[in-house]
Amino acid sequence: MSPILVIGSTGHVGSQVVAQLSDKGVPVRAMTRKPGVARPSAQVEVVQGDLTSPETVEPALNGVDTVFLVWTAPPAAFPAILELMARRVRRIVYLSAPLKTPHPFFQQPNATRVVAEQIERSIEASGLEWTFLRPGMFACNGPHWWGQQLRAGDLIRWPYLDVPTAPIDPADIAAIGVRALCENGHAGAEYVLTGPESLTQREQISIVGSVLGRALRIEEMTPDEARKELVSVMDWGMAPSTSVSAVIEKLLSAWGAAAGLPAFVSTRFSEITGTRPRTFRQWAELHARDFRG
Ligand SMILES: NC(=O)c1ccc[n+]([C@@H]2O[C@H](COP(=O)([O-])OP(=O)(O)OC[C@H]3O[C@@H](n4cnc5c(N)ncnc54)[C@H](OP(=O)(O)O)[C@@H]3O)[C@@H](O)[C@H]2O)c1
Repeated sequence: MSPILVIGSTGHVGSQVVAQLSDKGVPVRAMTRKPGVARPSAQVEVVQGDLTSPETVEPALNGVDTVFLVWTAPPAAFPAILELMARRVRRIVYLSAPLKTPHPFFQQPNATRVVAEQIERSIEASGLEWTFLRPGMFACNGPHWWGQQLRAGDLIRWPYLDVPTAPIDPADIAAIGVRALCENGHAGAEYVLTGPESLTQREQISIVGSVLGRALRIEEMTPDEARKELVSVMDWGMAPSTSVSAVIEKLLSAWGAAAGLPAFVSTRFSEITGTRPRTFRQWAELHARDFRG
């Protein structure tokens, strides 16, 4: 059986894809720029590869039929990597976003969206068999957003506290990805995936407080305050090329557009798996340590 190549194997979703494939006994090759740092299970083949240097990615594709793709590298590097994949690989599962879902939260213009749309169009034209995963907000954003404030005290200041989202556990996104990688019948599918419930940001922070056994004070921040204050509060571990201000602007415009509306909740996960996706509370209970830093 040829190995499945996971690009983005050390990230929130890719690491789960690697773990779940490995648990199923599927041969998996995990690509990373820093193979000495990545620590998946012993059965996983870890290979070095940098998407901005196609010659380092080519060996990772040897003998590979199927690829899981997370793209956070500079967009200019994508065409050369796609060309390599289109020559060697049959099937690709791409981690995208709900670009076509007609909810204002998902329809605000931003640079990330443009890149994802271009990547999708190129994959569709490549001749590869493709599946697009379209998850909404990741539950694991919480520690990046609120971790620093939680470690400093009990006051959490945040914008758009009454705007709801339906955060999804990255492991649930990965579970659908693993099916699309391993089973037939997912070609051309676009799976919009969310958590099971619409929760305001205030409710999400309260849940985190309750899971941590802390009485948090939650205070609304205006968008202008957010623009100034969140730059130093958010901890994304982002690539140096990524502008934190642009990410904050993207979030503010999505939350602003969704004010007064329930979050979009998809039933796709349950339709595919026959089980319910994890709630935000369940995710927070499993990941309480991530908030403590
Ligand atoms: N956060 C959300 O709420 C949300 C919602 C919907 C969609 N999304 C989409 O999800 C994607 C991010 O997924 P994620 O959070 O799982 O990723 P992540 O945790 O940010 O990890 C990024 C992965 O990409 C790899 N990578 C980055 N640059 C690379 C390069 N030049 N060469 C090789 N590998 C590289 C990193 O590997 P190494 O560092 O080990 O090399 C890492 O494994 C984005 O496309 C985002 O738009 C996010």
